[in-house]
Amino acid sequence: MNDQAVHLRAMVENRQNITGSIRPFKIITVTSGKGGVGKSNFTANLSLALKNNGKAPIILDADFGLANIDLIFGQRPVYTLAHMLDGKMGIKDVLTQTQYGVPFISGGSGIKEMIFLQEFQLDMIVHGLSQLAFIGDTLLVDTGAGITDTVIKFSEMADEVCLVITPEPSSITDAYALVKTFIKELNLRPNFLVVVNRADSREEAESAYRKIAAASKSFLGKELHYGGYIPFDNLLVRAIKEQKPIVGVNENAPSSIGYTNVARKMLNLGQHHVQRENLKDRLKRVFKK
Ligand SMILES: Nc1ncnc2c1ncn2[C@@H]1O[C@H](COP(=O)(O)OP(=O)(O)OP(=O)(O)O)[C@@H](O)[C@H]1O
Ligand SMILES: [Mg+2]
Repeated sequence: MNDQAVHLRAMVENRQNITGSIRPFKIITVTSGKGGVGKSNFTANLSLALKNNGKAPIILDADFGLANIDLIFGQRPVYTLAHMLDGKMGIKDVLTQTQYGVPFISGGSGIKEMIFLQEFQLDMIVHGLSQLAFIGDTLLVDTGAGITDTVIKFSEMADEVCLVITPEPSSITDAYALVKTFIKELNLRPNFLVVVNRADSREEAESAYRKIAAASKSFLGKELHYGGYIPFDNLLVRAIKEQKPIVGVNENAPSSIGYTNVARKMLNLGQHHVQRENLKDRLKRVFKK
């Protein structure tokens, strides 16, 4: 067993000893209509902000083909979910630990396979992912842009779907189209939380949120909550080039403050959520249909 596996085993055992039982587990899926709006950086930095506020998040990089989380953390994964689906490894063996204290799972080609799995592999996924509740309390799922089967499945099982937009009109209309598809075509009504990224000001962010929220309310009858905003931040751009997550290296950067505000807002909103279904049942319901 490598060092990382030993470390993770220890985490698992601690968690079982301290709590005696499994704590509630929250799934937050990060999506957007248009690509390139800042989802992956949001996922990585939100995880650190949640950790700084007492949570134990784990990231699943479900953006098949364009894995990004590893680049943001500057940490290459050795194994991916695909290795677990080969049947030789457990979920703990495919977790990649980072120096910032939040582990991630690289989907690799495993994510694509997840949609066309055989029965025994579905059991492996359900079992593997449900094991995560022994290691952490929150799963953040980073997805690719637009509506794919992966996005649909992970949105369906999520407690919250973060819809990342920017103030640009095309980002807002594409995000609205995504919400519309969920409601009208897929007949799914996830709990959407709109986060505005790359805003010039609070006013600009709120105005972007109001546009999509108003359209959704009047044309789709669906309320969209506001998760807050992340300002445009050159310090973030620089940190991305250095392959460092901004919240991990500069908590006072404008974007770090934004990520932290969103994390705190989520934690406050989360207190009103009642866990309807345990993790294993939720995974079974979504993956096995
Ligand atoms: N708050 C911000 N301030 C300034 N630049 C930003 C901010 N957020 C993101 N960016 C820029 O946007 C780029 C894309 O971000 P990111 O990779 O997180 O987007 P994405 O939505 O995950 O993209 P994809 O749809 O391809 O997965 C970053 O490399 C960075 O240059
Ligand atoms: Mg991305």
